[in-house]
Amino acid sequence: MKLIRFALSIMLVATLLAARPVAPHAQNLVQESITIQIDRPGAAIPATLFGVFFEDINFAADGGIYPERIKNRSFEFSEPLMGWKKVEANGARGSLEVRAEDPLNANSPHYLRLKAETDGFGLSNEGFRGIGLKQGETYTFSAYARSAGGLKALKISVVDANGTELGRARLSGFGKAWKRLSVPLRPNATEAKAMLKLTTEEPGTIDLDQVSLFPVNTYGKRPNGLRPDLVQLLKDLHPGFIRFPGGCIVEGRNLDERYQWKTTIGDPAQRKQIINRWNLEFRTRNPARAPEDYFQSFGLGFYEYFQLCEDTGAEPLPILNCGMACQFNTGQLVPLEGLDPYIQDALDLIEFANGPTTSTWGRKRAELGHPAPFNMKMLGVGNEQWGPQYVERYEIFAKAIKAKYPDIKLISSAGPSPQGERFDFLWKALRGLQADLVDEHYYQPPKWFLENAHRYDNYPRTGPKVFAGEYAAHAQAKNRPDRPNNWEAALAEAAFMTGLERNADVVLMASYAPLFAHVEAWQWSPNLIWFDNLRSFGTPSYYVQKLFSANRGTRLLPAKVEGSGEVKDLYISASFDAKSNEVILKVVNTAATARTMNVNLAGAAKVGAEARALTLASHDLAVENSLNEPTKLAPVELRVNLAGSRLPYQFVAHSLTVLRVPCQ
Ligand code: AHR
Repeated sequence: MKLIRFALSIMLVATLLAARPVAPHAQNLVQESITIQIDRPGAAIPATLFGVFFEDINFAADGGIYPERIKNRSFEFSEPLMGWKKVEANGARGSLEVRAEDPLNANSPHYLRLKAETDGFGLSNEGFRGIGLKQGETYTFSAYARSAGGLKALKISVVDANGTELGRARLSGFGKAWKRLSVPLRPNATEAKAMLKLTTEEPGTIDLDQVSLFPVNTYGKRPNGLRPDLVQLLKDLHPGFIRFPGGCIVEGRNLDERYQWKTTIGDPAQRKQIINRWNLEFRTRNPARAPEDYFQSFGLGFYEYFQLCEDTGAEPLPILNCGMACQFNTGQLVPLEGLDPYIQDALDLIEFANGPTTSTWGRKRAELGHPAPFNMKMLGVGNEQWGPQYVERYEIFAKAIKAKYPDIKLISSAGPSPQGERFDFLWKALRGLQADLVDEHYYQPPKWFLENAHRYDNYPRTGPKVFAGEYAAHAQAKNRPDRPNNWEAALAEAAFMTGLERNADVVLMASYAPLFAHVEAWQWSPNLIWFDNLRSFGTPSYYVQKLFSANRGTRLLPAKVEGSGEVKDLYISASFDAKSNEVILKVVNTAATARTMNVNLAGAAKVGAEARALTLASHDLAVENSLNEPTKLAPVELRVNLAGSRLPYQFVAHSLTVLRVPCQ
């Protein structure tokens, strides 16, 4: 096995070494060329072109980027003790009861009463497929507690899968009223699947709610902050925008379970938890896909989403429910005359994001710690809705929002598929309504992406613009329950993305979907980034997104391919970056063979002496990254000497190459 791996890595290095300028003696044999017209700049490329789509699917929020370690911390799951177990070893006795009388607050109506008849009694929490702990880091254990008789302290410990204790603390100071108490805990070892234990030192009774174990080391060291490695992976993508909080999650299976942003801000203990729409959505034999324990604590709420946008330099793009539940589920509708509260939510959200601190919702933002506006410029009305019911609701929303906030750009829906009756109906109606941006979704086989790389070349240049809001190439692999995140899929996406970029005057924004998945708790694949309780990695699709986004120029340049016959399996786009004075050429070679081409910089007044070439390539279309080999496929950078405005270059088989050439 080791030998095979060694041979494969030699092949990979050999492949990448082949991606290089062509030796002078061979240059006259080059048959194909790419000519970039530097002196004829085209449309501006919006900074929002490549962004990300966040949805709480696959444990993306709770169990993922929201790093709370305790599952069901507020005892509000449908089965209120899910995730918790009695600890009654060595003859310890007592009872656990979930109660509703005199609760912590109305949004957290249940709590736990722990009654110990002996010492050593208590309960344990299993976390989200285990509790991830890192040696040397500090975790804050906290809980709302109320004495109900006798008990002076609780022992808090974390143990590994064998029951070996990794760290302990003691919580005391209980009074007659609810009080939040906390204590630091420092594990002496790293463990991905630890468990938390709360046990008594004596008989007595105590009420507990909002039991939490939270890392101090969050992104930016914020209390209630986010998991740093996952935020960093997002930041490295240079996202132009973040679309949140979904996805179907916005719609809910029914209207009661829809996402309501106002319940997601402020004190986390006051945020009203609901079931996650993906809970039991895909009941199959694969246990990872049947997460009965999937709820939304909303610890990651709208304020944190706005902060995440700021942290990653992305424009915020919230999507709100438009009075329709998921049409793949109940499809419940709010009658047109009942839409006012939904519209008010949208208006209030704009005030929350942008309003002065003297306004009701602007003041709330300031109270949460952010007096400066978040500068939100776009808002989605509904997710993936379709039919006349959507159009009539969109129209009412748009009228009300535009009347008060004419500058906010609204995103409307083209439905779940990239063509067909629903799609045509929606586009026609939205064009008639002079919509700003229409959101197209395509989850299709790699072949579709290759065949549609020119999809937008002939789209109308007037009227609504396109938001390619959810897309991913769905490849197949035998004998496995998921669709693989392999190079075949990512390469097809890269080819398609040259078409998005070439048409940046029509396609203003695009985002791969979904974004995150826990390796042990996913409902959907493929996804851009996978993680477990401690580690994470970007897929080949992640690196494609990164290469496009980090190498987005500011203006399009015309580029054409010429050869002796028909040039196949080649996809290109070119731009100029006014920030760095570079021409950026993206070339996707989907052929199984390398191709050598002359890259001509026509109309250039001055060309620099050295270019940079970033290449993502593999002969093996089935290659994937993993937790153990997170960068098995990742971009490789080369420096290329230049001698004038013609660069003969070899684009290796199955590759995405980004050439950055200093040029004026
Ligand atoms: O990305 C997964 C789902 O696909 C989204 O929630 C939904 O909008 C689409 O159907």
